[in-house]
Amino acid sequence: MKFSTKSIHIGQKPDEATGAIIPPIYMTSTYIQDAPAQHKGYDYTRAGNPNFSNIEATLGSLENGKFATVFSSGLGGLTGIISMLKAGDSVIGTADIYGGSYRLFKRIFSNYSISFKTINTQDLQEVNNALKLKPKMVFIESPTNPLLKITDIEKVTETARKYGVISVVDNTFATPYFQNPLDLGADIVLHSTTKYIGGHSDIVGGVVITNNPEFKEKIDFARMAIGLNPSPFDVWLGSRGIKTLGVRMEKHGQNALALANFFKSHPKVRKVYYPGLESHPNYVIAKKQMSGFSGIVSVEFDMTLEETKKIMSSFKYFSLAESLGGIESLVDHPASMTHASIPAEERKKIGLSDGLVRFSVGIEDIEDLKADINRTLK
Ligand SMILES: Cc1ncc(COP(=O)(O)O)c(C=O)c1O
Repeated sequence: MKFSTKSIHIGQKPDEATGAIIPPIYMTSTYIQDAPAQHKGYDYTRAGNPNFSNIEATLGSLENGKFATVFSSGLGGLTGIISMLKAGDSVIGTADIYGGSYRLFKRIFSNYSISFKTINTQDLQEVNNALKLKPKMVFIESPTNPLLKITDIEKVTETARKYGVISVVDNTFATPYFQNPLDLGADIVLHSTTKYIGGHSDIVGGVVITNNPEFKEKIDFARMAIGLNPSPFDVWLGSRGIKTLGVRMEKHGQNALALANFFKSHPKVRKVYYPGLESHPNYVIAKKQMSGFSGIVSVEFDMTLEETKKIMSSFKYFSLAESLGGIESLVDHPASMTHASIPAEERKKIGLSDGLVRFSVGIEDIEDLKADINRTLK
């Protein structure tokens, strides 16, 4: 079954009791039991809910994974993954990851003696040197947020396997439509479903997908024991959003490429970051492991920081807001918004300048988007 058929038919079965074409929302905290500990597979929504099972079937199939677990947020999912570790374990991660993921490692789990060190996962020699020290886990984000750096997932996960290191890929930016990390050798895939999977900026959610039954058991346990479950309503909205993931991603990708090319030739633009541009330093790897380049474009303008900040609240269609991946275009200033939790000297080290602007390109008409940017830059 192909992607868009899966997204509409797997985990999306009509309701058997009534024939309703759309599965209902099971807004329930608990379930009647026939006798103590005898129930129909669900006992309490923190541990499970039919809406969770539905979306888990859809997302597992889209990532070619056997098992999925939904969470209250992307960071809830990452918490579930890190909960598999023990005090004294260490994690190696891509430099230039989402600021909240960095903060979770550095400001929460470091208090429980789980260390986190970032490296340049684009450099395979550096990866090999770090992995041969046998950390417990390698955490890859590709493309990265916000610099759109690409890690060779196949090569890094192969090296991780050689040293017995668990590999995790945050696939939020690419989505399963453009990239399937499990097929490239990853042990675990993470998504913030808040972004493209939900697609309409109306939910916060996360999912963890794996083919490993032992990881699945541990991750389910973490969700239940810590209380990282989402609301059935949010999950139901997520299932609704997924049905159009394929068509939305096609349009996000087309619009983003058009905008990246437009920025490239604009006199007020100093630098464009988009993995679909042949000039991107990781273009060859992006082309090898992705079937499209998704909808985020980052830019440095040829203007002062003050001027840059001023234009960011002057767009008509690009609303100044955190988050990304919705059908409406957004603009973000990573240094003061989404990535402010990364210390300034660390940001400088990875090349995240104070002037960087991140565009989440929506699915509006591209001519309107270009005209909006042109008018604002003028
Ligand atoms: C790449 C990436 N991973 C994870 C997250 C965290 O997801 P959430 O906000 O749903 O917790 C984000 C949020 O922006 C993200 O961009």
